[in-house]
Amino acid sequence: MTTVPDNINPFPETIDRWFTNCRVATMADGQYGIMENAALAVSGEKIAWIGSMDALPDPLPGPVRKTDCKNRWILPGFVDCHTHLIWAGSRTEEFEMRLAGASYADIATAGGGIFSTVKATRAADEDTLFDLASRRLAHFLGQGITTVEIKSGYGLDPASELKMLAVAGRLKEAFPQHIEATFLGAHALPPEFAGRPDDYIRQVMDVMLPEVKHQGIATAVDVFCENIAFSRNQTRQVFEKAKDLGFALKLHAEQLSDSSGTALAAEMGALSCDHLEYLSVDGAKKMADHGTVAVLLPGAFHYLKETRVPPVDAFRQQTIPMAVATDLNPGSSPVFSMLPVLNMACLLFKLTCEQALAGATLHGAAALGLADRKGSLAPGKDADFVIWDVDTPADLCYLTGITPLKQVVIGGKTVSPENERT
Ligand code: NIG
Ligand code: FE
Repeated sequence: MTTVPDNINPFPETIDRWFTNCRVATMADGQYGIMENAALAVSGEKIAWIGSMDALPDPLPGPVRKTDCKNRWILPGFVDCHTHLIWAGSRTEEFEMRLAGASYADIATAGGGIFSTVKATRAADEDTLFDLASRRLAHFLGQGITTVEIKSGYGLDPASELKMLAVAGRLKEAFPQHIEATFLGAHALPPEFAGRPDDYIRQVMDVMLPEVKHQGIATAVDVFCENIAFSRNQTRQVFEKAKDLGFALKLHAEQLSDSSGTALAAEMGALSCDHLEYLSVDGAKKMADHGTVAVLLPGAFHYLKETRVPPVDAFRQQTIPMAVATDLNPGSSPVFSMLPVLNMACLLFKLTCEQALAGATLHGAAALGLADRKGSLAPGKDADFVIWDVDTPADLCYLTGITPLKQVVIGGKTVSPENERT
């Protein structure tokens, strides 16, 4: 375990809240950064100070709220950098079909899979989608997820894609979590464009992207580059237009086969490439050259009974930051918590507990371009953190079936549990 020296920062003047008697894993630089016998001070929405209990003035100054953490652990809130949290309908039947031997690709090719969710999502009105997504986001809060990326991609026509992003906008207003919305219009070819993928890509580029930009309802653009979705060339066209419009780029890449989408995305400056089970070592090199984050989605790997793991050793050797995320969606990853994802990242992808936790915090933030504000604990960073009732941070990767969470703080305010809200 790495530790940081006590009292690394000067004592601040304005403090709104104190968290005392805690153990802190700062996750700074993607390492535990353990501080024992520590205290943490919040000023407004930011962390003002972290240091040793021994350095505190006695008594603590001012009429400030003090929380005695009783030697529990404080870690940065989880940053879930890849979700499809807004959808209608159910895919339980497909789960049963896959159990009986059908593959994810077979089901998609037969018009199920993503298309079945598209049908239900198109048919649902905005309020219905908002209610469904709200329940999921409320659950996320109770799981210590304080930043959430949400993709569109179950609309696949201009009105339905805009509807999904409008729902993301309403969630931003209604929930305390930080939300980043991503436009994933090029997620699958909608049935009305069957046999005409280039025409659909044109619509994404000429109609949807400019309108999404105009309405300011997404910060990033994602594409599913895969033989059951869009080609490398089509991905490039969408990315060129998205870049011109000033969007950040992300890619669903090398999930079911190697289409070399990762190399393209890295060269075009994408923030992250996600999935990556079929990534080649050359593709990983491109990520290293361009500072692209590798987002690992062990939930999808597990649910699809995939056997090929992403090239984690290459990521380590080339110091490519590895994020981990839920990929919450009704098809490949109906996973509503980061805790099982941490466990799967360790057991299925052989990450260490420290790497998995860094993946769900600092590197998740990097995959969203937010690492300067979120994902680690240090003075000046957003006061987004969770108090956990565990013996050691590694317990968050080790234990399954319980959520040993005591308190969630976002922007300096306690937002969960309900009775502790400030
Ligand atoms: O990240 N791979 C493509 N998209 C999603 C799955 C979407 C779905 O099956 O509904 C994913 O796994
Ligand atoms: Fe996904």
